[in-house]
Amino acid sequence: MDKGSGLGLFRKSIVRRLKRHGIVRAPRHLREFEAEAARINGRHRRQTLADVEALRARYAAPILGDVLVWDLIRALTDVHDATDPQLGSTSQLTHTINVAAAMERDGVTDEDLLVAALVHDTGKLLLTVGEAPENVLCMNEPIGEYAPGVGLDTCVFQWNHDEFAWSRYREHVPAHLAWLLRYHSIYPDRCAPLMDDRDRAWTARYLKPFSHYDQDFKSPFRPADRPLEHWRELIFDRFPRPIPF
Ligand SMILES: [Fe+2]
Ligand SMILES: [Fe+2]
Repeated sequence: MDKGSGLGLFRKSIVRRLKRHGIVRAPRHLREFEAEAARINGRHRRQTLADVEALRARYAAPILGDVLVWDLIRALTDVHDATDPQLGSTSQLTHTINVAAAMERDGVTDEDLLVAALVHDTGKLLLTVGEAPENVLCMNEPIGEYAPGVGLDTCVFQWNHDEFAWSRYREHVPAHLAWLLRYHSIYPDRCAPLMDDRDRAWTARYLKPFSHYDQDFKSPFRPADRPLEHWRELIFDRFPRPIPF
């Protein structure tokens, strides 16, 4: 997460509200959470091309075998993002459900966006097999310099659950959805100079709307809006068989 702007404002507002409600212990916990998040983000930012190569090689083969996507999503109940104070200890399953639910409340009808909401963070299951959080979480920036307009696929980005998810779903979803999974943790505006026509079109059509729902409906206090069962048909329709994961 960007340290200067959004996080600072969020922290001020949450501290103010927690004080108002008399939840006096929470700010210390928040500071501890943020300190750990900063350490993880620092290590993520120091990833090198060699680190990315090593991670690609480490996860070239399936880690969990053939698994139903439904079961991957459900397993997110055991995962939380230690770099995301807007979610705190809220599970990634709750986050996933609330992204999809917010889309539905707004009348989003593009099923690809809903599917993206439901599977986009399943790569964070890497945490359950012992991968270091700096290789699973955080936002991604390109490593090195690239000519303007080369296209995102030509660049090497810091490696996290996005690249892992892309590698697992690319054979099972349309190209634009695979692209969205791969780049859902980039800063679109910062990466704009690197984009080609396809990147720009998909950023406008998919990444910008997706990021709104992924980022703007987080809360450490909000339970899941509805059971995951609500999307059972959609998930089994799009992923009827186990996939190598
Ligand atoms: Fe994510
Ligand atoms: Fe997310």
